[in-house]
Amino acid sequence: MDENNGNKRGQWSGRIGFILAATGSAIGLGNIWKFPYITGEYGGGSFVLVYLMCVVLVGLPLMIAELIIGRRAQCNPVGAFQKLHKKGSAWQLVGWLGVASGFVILSYYSIVAGWALAYIYKAIVGFSGTAEAIQGQFIELVVSPFDSIMWHTIFMILCIGIVIGGIQKGIERWSKILMPALFAILLGLMFYGLFATNGGAAALNFLFKPDFSKLTAEGILSALGHAFFTLSLGMGAMITYGSYMKKERNLLRSAITVSFLDTLIALMAGVAIFSLVFHYGMEPGQSVGLIFKTLPVLFAETGPWISVPFFILLSFAALTSGISLLEVVVSYFIDHRGWSRKVTTIVLGGFIYLFGLLSAVAAWTVPFRGKDQSFFDIFDFISTNYMLPIGGFLTCLYIAWVMKDKDRSEEFGSNGPLYKALKFVLRYVTPIALIAVILHGLELLPFMEY
Ligand code: PHE
Repeated sequence: MDENNGNKRGQWSGRIGFILAATGSAIGLGNIWKFPYITGEYGGGSFVLVYLMCVVLVGLPLMIAELIIGRRAQCNPVGAFQKLHKKGSAWQLVGWLGVASGFVILSYYSIVAGWALAYIYKAIVGFSGTAEAIQGQFIELVVSPFDSIMWHTIFMILCIGIVIGGIQKGIERWSKILMPALFAILLGLMFYGLFATNGGAAALNFLFKPDFSKLTAEGILSALGHAFFTLSLGMGAMITYGSYMKKERNLLRSAITVSFLDTLIALMAGVAIFSLVFHYGMEPGQSVGLIFKTLPVLFAETGPWISVPFFILLSFAALTSGISLLEVVVSYFIDHRGWSRKVTTIVLGGFIYLFGLLSAVAAWTVPFRGKDQSFFDIFDFISTNYMLPIGGFLTCLYIAWVMKDKDRSEEFGSNGPLYKALKFVLRYVTPIALIAVILHGLELLPFMEY
């Protein structure tokens, strides 16, 4: 049952291998595409502060929880709950929910990742013409089924190609190449923003100076939901990656490192992007179009030296997240069905690809929550508002209230004050925060207007 279906499961080669792969999963479109635009929408500094609190109070504890479950069980999410609890117990449904979430999320994630790839090409050709014409290119891409499907196909082939290689020779090897490259590019773009434009100071101000009058309940709930998505939690990705970890690694240190790097990259991306936005006197609250509509207009001025690396960065980030989504699904079928990694990856990657076609065609809409919506929007909504928070909530209940204290503390590596603090947070803080997110998704929070 290892990478090549022998009798040993795959394992990371060492600490760096795990850190880069897990950080690769965490750092994705969420950091570079979504974080900057929601920060813009919800008013900057105060949102960032709340987001940081959510990472520490909700994200980090849950990441530790998932790693504990994965490493203890040495199994994919479904198998992990079966092994730790009882075979046939209802807890395995949490694992199933994770596998289903991986399937659904990758199917539409691949569409946005495809846009990132398409924009590498567009950036090389160069952005020119009026602002309307440049922004119009994005709409053309989204509404053209041919283009969307072509880039979706390329992205899925890349994911499948890497996951076929297995843990060390596929995921780890590529993370070791892509993550340092991503960091180097982002560092360059951030310095460019800070020192070569006139927007650096304004960007820092916007991101780090809280203005609490701008903070809304909606903003707080988005920060919470995002902390969750960006750390790849609630769907077993960290259970799966944790299951390939060696016993002697310290879980707390690993989880802190991954959460810290994920947050650092999101903030660096924010600085790079908002420096440009302010330099050209644009408004920060550009919503979803920030990366694909607003930035290209600015890139017409800066030229390809900035725009090409930017979209390469975005694509690398998407790719290392895409492979983790695929790995969750694939690992179940390898562990349980005994299928070979090659066949499993191709077959399941193929199914996800086909399912993704629904999201690739923007013109296909169905009624959902009172209006006609594209499959892309529906899957995005269902997975981020229901599937991940519910998966995270149940994982939290399991580890905090059901798992044996001995199993939990042994895996954590101590039962001292830090362990007690973690247990307290997982029992009383994280689940309550997640219930708020779930109720908000259902439009049932009493103090909100829907
Ligand atoms: N964390 C990724 C991002 O920020 C998305 C993701 C979610 C990846 C869940 C894997 C699992 O883009």
